[in-house]
Amino acid sequence: MPVHPAIVPGILLRVAFVVLAAGHLASLQTSAAQVADAPATAATDLPDATGTATGDAVIETTQPADAKPIEKARESYLGRVVAQPMSHRGASWLIRPNRDEEENASESFQNLGLEPGMVVCDLGCGNGYWTLPMARKVGEKGAVYAVDIQQEMLRKLNQRADRFELKNIRPVLGTIDNPKLPVGAIDMLLMVDVYHEFSHPESMLWEIRRALKPTGVIALLEYREEDLEVPIKPLHKMSKRQIMKEYQANGFKLVREYNELPWQHLMFFARDDSPLAEIEPEPADAVLKRLQSSTPNGTVNE
Ligand SMILES: C[S@@+](CC[C@H](N)C(=O)[O-])C[C@H]1O[C@@H](n2cnc3c(N)ncnc32)[C@H](O)[C@@H]1O
Repeated sequence: MPVHPAIVPGILLRVAFVVLAAGHLASLQTSAAQVADAPATAATDLPDATGTATGDAVIETTQPADAKPIEKARESYLGRVVAQPMSHRGASWLIRPNRDEEENASESFQNLGLEPGMVVCDLGCGNGYWTLPMARKVGEKGAVYAVDIQQEMLRKLNQRADRFELKNIRPVLGTIDNPKLPVGAIDMLLMVDVYHEFSHPESMLWEIRRALKPTGVIALLEYREEDLEVPIKPLHKMSKRQIMKEYQANGFKLVREYNELPWQHLMFFARDDSPLAEIEPEPADAVLKRLQSSTPNGTVNE
């Protein structure tokens, strides 16, 4: 079975723990250059992925404050290295049989709070692991915009949707800086293991902000960077602190979170002018401490 370039093989993880124990934390940290040897990624397949890398450089603009940012492809954003998009060639990893067991996707799904009739979006949908159950849940009176920048992912999604006769999915071929969503239309926009791949994070967040209804929310799932036991390469993880920094800088506030998943942060953001009340995030170290002291069935270890 193909392995996602982000996954850290078990043996590497064990070696990493030995290194850690020896106090050589610095040698564990994988740089962008080191991960370039990962299996082929989608970037070279994409017609638009040729922008000049700008890193964190400030881009001079005379645009009005509410205009879409002028942004070139970034190698880093607000201190975080941007990952390459995962290729459609690894798509079978996304629908591996043990995904639910590993990530507890069912629990994430339940906590999204989807209702029949909602208009939702699965942004960076891949081959539709999340799109299909979303379509079933919102039903025929609702709709799911399924956006990806790889035509091949949408083709695989369509094949799976046809098999289950789901008619309320609207596939959208987005670009690296535009998900091409209708304005003010979305109740919930889900991004699972996607946001950290955006080469144009400000442009994407600007478009997403515009696509949300006033009470619409983003549901963001990213692997926990703070937890060294999550077997995913650091480049494909995000810390809570970094997520907060990037979303607040782009006109969003945290309105809900779910901190019980084994591998991921699940954070809900609304527009900063939304009527939804803002909350403070539970610090990641407190979350980890709490999770590590609970047994798998939820009881607390004494
Ligand atoms: C790691 S896969 C996750 C797929 C799916 N969300 C899942 O959890 O099964 C990331 C996907 O995001 C897509 N992607 C990356 N950048 C994107 C962008 N700017 N707009 C839309 N999709 C994007 C990639 O093409 C890829 O299919």
